Amino acid sequence: MSSTIHLRARGLKQTYDLAGSHLHVLTGVDLDVAKGEVLFLRGASGAGKSTLLYILAGLEHPREGTVEFEEKQLFALKGDRQAVLRNQHMGFVFQSYFLLPELTALENVLLPAMIGGRQSKGNDSKARELLDRVGLSGRLDHLPSQLSGGEQQRVAIARALINDPSILFADEPTGNLDATTGAGIIDILLGLAREDGRTFVAVTHDPALAALGDRQLYLKDGHLV
Ligand SMILES: Nc1ncnc2c1ncn2[C@@H]1O[C@H](COP(=O)(O)OP(=O)(O)OP(=O)(O)O)[C@@H](O)[C@H]1O
Ligand SMILES: [Mg+2]
Repeated sequence: MSSTIHLRARGLKQTYDLAGSHLHVLTGVDLDVAKGEVLFLRGASGAGKSTLLYILAGLEHPREGTVEFEEKQLFALKGDRQAVLRNQHMGFVFQSYFLLPELTALENVLLPAMIGGRQSKGNDSKARELLDRVGLSGRLDHLPSQLSGGEQQRVAIARALINDPSILFADEPTGNLDATTGAGIIDILLGLAREDGRTFVAVTHDPALAALGDRQLYLKDGHLV
């Protein structure tokens, strides 16, 4: 594994203000993730794991602190440049699959490529290849409602990879699945990340799963230990 830093967070703080009280969820998170590293984030429910992951991926703005991704300051990018960077270099797999219900499996996978404006014939064959890699070549024309939970999550994984992200984020990707299906999903995710040398940052509650990574960190009292 190369020791090039892919993602660097410094002094991340996040506070939510509710009805006059302040919830200090992140109180100073520093993190370096190396290129190609597989990192698992753990911590109690409510510790702020999702919050941290969303900030690292630029999906949420921190109160304070910086995130540097591929040597760019994520929160200093103007206009839609941050969204473009996210679309072209980052993949995200959520606990709920967030597939569009009116689109087929194939169309859902193609969507980020179309949003990115890449109108190439290559996209269609790439989407088919990704669906094949996650074992769904027989489900291309199924709508999400016609797929099992594990199959929907596999479509979401293929969708996260369509633009060839250098980093893949996952927030409890097996949280809604039974243990056997969940283990299969993790095999696929980890396999795809490692085969292609992608950096992988995932939240999990499962210690056995977390042990499969290169490193585990715990979020406690607002920072990583
Ligand atoms: N937009 C928001 N406004 C107010 N409070 C929020 C908001 N988002 C999260 N919180 C609170 O911040 C805390 C951390 O939430 P977060 O979702 O990051 O936890 P988590 O570690 O991912 O938990 P889980 O393991 O249950 O998913 C929680 O107590 C939550 O209620
Ligand atoms: Mg969470």
